[in-house]
Amino acid sequence: MSQPALLPTPLQPDTANALARLVEGLDSSALLWASGYLAGLARSSLSTAISAPPAAVAAAPVQPATILYGSQTGNAKRAAEALHAALQSAGLPARLLRTDAYATRELANEKLLYVVISTQGEGDPPDDAIGFVEFLHGKRAPKLGQLKYSVLGLGDTSYADFCGAARKIDARLSELGGSRLQALGEADLEVELIAAPWREQALSHAKDLLKTAAPAAHLATVTPLRPLAAAWTHEKPFTAEVLGNQRITGREYKPTAFRVYGPQDKDVRHIELALEGSGLAYEPGDALGIIHRNTDALIHSVLDVTKLNGDTSVTHNGQTLPLSQWLAEKRELTRLSKPLLTTLAERAAAKDLKALLEPGNAGFAALLNDHQLIDALRRWPAEWDAAALVAALRPQAKRLYSIASSRKRVGEEAHLTLDVLRYQAHGHEHIGAASGFLAALEEGAQLPVYIEPNERFRVPSDSSRDILMIGPGTGVAPFRGFVQERAETGASGRNWLFFGAQHFNTGFLYQVEWQDALHKQELHRLDLAFSRDQSEKIYVQQRLREQGRDVYDWLQNGAHLYVCGAIKMGKDVHAALLDIVTQHNGGNAEAAAEFLSTLQREGRYARDVY
Ligand SMILES: Cc1cc2nc3c(=O)[nH]c(=O)nc-3n(C[C@H](O)[C@H](O)[C@H](O)COP(=O)(O)OP(=O)(O)OC[C@H]3O[C@@H](n4cnc5c(N)ncnc54)[C@H](O)[C@@H]3O)c2cc1C
Ligand SMILES: NC(=O)c1ccc[n+]([C@@H]2O[C@H](COP(=O)([O-])OP(=O)(O)OC[C@H]3O[C@@H](n4cnc5c(N)ncnc54)[C@H](OP(=O)(O)O)[C@@H]3O)[C@@H](O)[C@H]2O)c1
Ligand SMILES: Cc1cc2nc3c(=O)[nH]c(=O)nc-3n(C[C@H](O)[C@H](O)[C@H](O)COP(=O)(O)O)c2cc1C
Repeated sequence: MSQPALLPTPLQPDTANALARLVEGLDSSALLWASGYLAGLARSSLSTAISAPPAAVAAAPVQPATILYGSQTGNAKRAAEALHAALQSAGLPARLLRTDAYATRELANEKLLYVVISTQGEGDPPDDAIGFVEFLHGKRAPKLGQLKYSVLGLGDTSYADFCGAARKIDARLSELGGSRLQALGEADLEVELIAAPWREQALSHAKDLLKTAAPAAHLATVTPLRPLAAAWTHEKPFTAEVLGNQRITGREYKPTAFRVYGPQDKDVRHIELALEGSGLAYEPGDALGIIHRNTDALIHSVLDVTKLNGDTSVTHNGQTLPLSQWLAEKRELTRLSKPLLTTLAERAAAKDLKALLEPGNAGFAALLNDHQLIDALRRWPAEWDAAALVAALRPQAKRLYSIASSRKRVGEEAHLTLDVLRYQAHGHEHIGAASGFLAALEEGAQLPVYIEPNERFRVPSDSSRDILMIGPGTGVAPFRGFVQERAETGASGRNWLFFGAQHFNTGFLYQVEWQDALHKQELHRLDLAFSRDQSEKIYVQQRLREQGRDVYDWLQNGAHLYVCGAIKMGKDVHAALLDIVTQHNGGNAEAAAEFLSTLQREGRYARDVY
């Protein structure tokens, strides 16, 4: 839920920002409580207010449960909100906080803690939980002998380190002396399958542990207002019209070592969509979720290799459809997952695949990265029947694309920058399910969409702040939106963009727009890294190092820093930033790491990597 714009305020911008961050994620009842608390502070002197907190707090003889969530795209937040609502409905005192709004010094005093957290990157915590996880694993982590806790992880079994962040937190809380109330919940894409029973169990523990609590007056008297559900969701998307789909890369791209392109060259598209009448109000930094349809060619290949008939009627979870429709609209047909591979290994009696699935086998991650479903079905032929295939395949995984526009510039439209995944492997041409689907859409086509908000990836609310944007490849997409937004709102802070691509001639995305923006002083600095226009690779982090002094000065002077693009790039850029800060702070690497962590905690260093 985005925060309302702060009214003219006597607060310094930094304090106003800190306040906005602190209350972000609180639901209406918590906000009402907080407003009463602040009013109490205003009425009495600070010391009196602290030693005699508002009656609402004093009235609760039992310490409320704390629910912490770490979430990149909102799933864990929703799961945490559902637990909070369940506790509230049962009249149990509980507070809900995003991990970066949690004062970690309070951990030592917690009695009942729930952590709901997704996994990002390669087994990493989401950005809003980095500080919490660092604290938990650091020297200052307290002994937790009095703590009872329970963790719900959200993940995706198509990643090698499934629910890695949650597993580490669950293990660490136990190591610090906490008592685990229930087994770690590990939710795959169908979150509720695991989250619902986990929540039931959590609620039952909370009832036992908090039962001596007087009805929590401040919670019970407030009618619990549910957060406004977004009008358009993954389950109920808005149908947008395609206004344009234009290729913005040249045709001379050469095959790469990682991605061996086939006859087609590198293909990046600028796509414009009409949101008119939807009421969809995105902010630059948000992503657009799209619902794709698997191609007929891929469906035929799957039917061919499994020797099944697309007309066969299949009933699954109470829904009856022809197999071909299940495969076109309802099932994931490219990305592999561990449960699917486990079923395949059984059906194919494939010892080599079983070995790959053994815990700790490094070949497993490689298999997920370089095999699509069709490659696995071809490699390990098995007997299938239509119902078993539908049951083994997962629902389609979400596909998100950073929004590359600002509504203040483009009105009721959303623009995307799409890299079309197309490569030759295992003797066949492959195309990405969603990117291939999007690339084929012509003007006038209809596309189901929804907004996936990213509250941590926003232009600074204090528009006088400078910003540094690092976005090679399609990572540049949100920064087109940022620059438009800052130009339209007359932001006085400077904008500095680092962009990279393989070749200047063919890969300089939005070149004319950036030059125009420089000319109009909407963009103030632009540094470019074309990796393959010379014998040695040049990446954005080399440009950062070359400009290290200025980068450091901008950060010292309050600039906000953003990184968007491939996961590996994000890690390498982070390492370069550590070096830069170390070099300019007098050589103290520990202080440099702390400096960047502080920026992250304060919301001044945000990443959107995929
Ligand atoms: C928050 C967020 C923002 C994003 N923003 C953008 C954006 O602005 N623009 C953009 O283009 N993308 C963006 N993405 C990525 C996008 O969501 C999709 O992941 C991407 O388009 C690929 O999806 P697909 O369905 O086309 O490919 P899929 O059908 O999912 O195919 C991927 C699979 O193909 C296989 N594979 C891939 N490459 C190879 C190879 N070289 N050799 C062998 N196998 C291979 C792997 O098994 C991989 O799992 C974003 C992702 C996130 C999470
Ligand atoms: N699965 C993966 O490992 C992986 C990796 C990258 C991208 N992708 C996917 O491919 C699509 C397009 O990727 P993209 O937008 O990043 O475009 P891209 O065209 O692949 O890369 C843009 C620029 O970044 C460079 N680059 C590569 N590795 C880097 C690193 N570690 N640090 C800094 N720069 C680096 C590239 O150089 P070179 O190409 O010359 O090395 C190129 O110059 C996205 O959908 C992304 O998810 C996947
Ligand atoms: C770029 C990216 C990396 C991910 N890495 C992992 C991973 O390593 N392990 C895992 O189990 N899930 C991984 N996931 C899946 C997410 O954890 C899953 O989609 C989750 O529901 C997201 O919840 P959130 O919206 O609260 O962040 C990844 C998702 C994305 C987009």
